[in-house]
Amino acid sequence: MTYAKEKEVAIAAATAAAKLCEQVRADIPQAIEKKDKSPVTVADFGAQAIICQALAAAFPDDPVVGEEDAKELRKPEMAETLTKVTHYVQALSPDATPEDVTRWIDHGNGQVSSRYWTLDPIDGTKGFLRQDQYAVALALVENGEVKVGVLACPAMPLDGGQTGALYVAVRGEGATMVPLSGGEPQRLQVVMADDVANFRFVESVEAAHGDQSKQNAIAQAVGITTESFRVDSQAKYGIVASGKAALYLRLPSPKYPDYRENIWDHAAGAIVVEEAGGRVSDMYGQPLNFAEGSKMMNNRGIVVSNGTIHDQVIAALAEN
Ligand code: AMP
Ligand code: MG
Ligand code: NA
Repeated sequence: MTYAKEKEVAIAAATAAAKLCEQVRADIPQAIEKKDKSPVTVADFGAQAIICQALAAAFPDDPVVGEEDAKELRKPEMAETLTKVTHYVQALSPDATPEDVTRWIDHGNGQVSSRYWTLDPIDGTKGFLRQDQYAVALALVENGEVKVGVLACPAMPLDGGQTGALYVAVRGEGATMVPLSGGEPQRLQVVMADDVANFRFVESVEAAHGDQSKQNAIAQAVGITTESFRVDSQAKYGIVASGKAALYLRLPSPKYPDYRENIWDHAAGAIVVEEAGGRVSDMYGQPLNFAEGSKMMNNRGIVVSNGTIHDQVIAALAEN
């Protein structure tokens, strides 16, 4: 299978959603509180609505496992927020009604199955609110294997001075980066072992999303001597795939020892790095399990590398 239609639909949908997010961000987002206290914005809902609308139209039988749902948004006290979301969606889909918007968002309530999409409409909401990095992350998974991944990073600085990257990967076909503002796809390749200047490591900005002291210790143990650079969201996968870092470490936070990673926080990024020649596993070297449910219950921690240092990292983790 070539996944040509899946790729085309995913690129168009993620690009449209990124546009919506940038519009909201330009208007300064008003954070609202979700049950888990993480900020979720008008843009999260709008981006999920736009992408689910496109997926439902093109692939009506495919479930979508999205991070958001419209339960809160349907409550009377959220009417003003729903009006705002609808306003942003209408910029891309002029006939959209509030009912359409909530229905599209809830199309993302699907279950993991033999073929499904997984969506994080805004990964790195905290980065989005800080005007830092964030990503729109969409992936197609079949029989537990990610087949297509699209990662829109609207705030990513590019070598030519532009801003905004779209990372795209199809299993077996390599990974590319296309500027979100348009241009030719550029083939992605992870960093070579002798490229000292780019032999760095990335980790989350949010200290509570990992174990920064252990992450630094492991990076040093495998010969990375420079300090980490800290980036929100799956933009970290884009950076490793682009050869601008050799390693992304995400080790369990001592504050949240029972935390399990969500599939939508890793599926799109993982295929982009793998197709750029890198490796992705959990901290024990086990493959990430996208076949069971929305949380990867049997994986702990995430290791993303250029490949050459992967086994060394896993060995260092086993010793520390
Ligand atoms: P990042 O921008 O890389 O820090 O990752 C953002 C993601 O971290 C969000 O999408 C959350 O799903 C996830 N997250 C929330 N709490 C934790 C935690 N305790 N450990 C790891 N990831 C978390
Ligand atoms: Mg996320
Ligand atoms: Na999110």
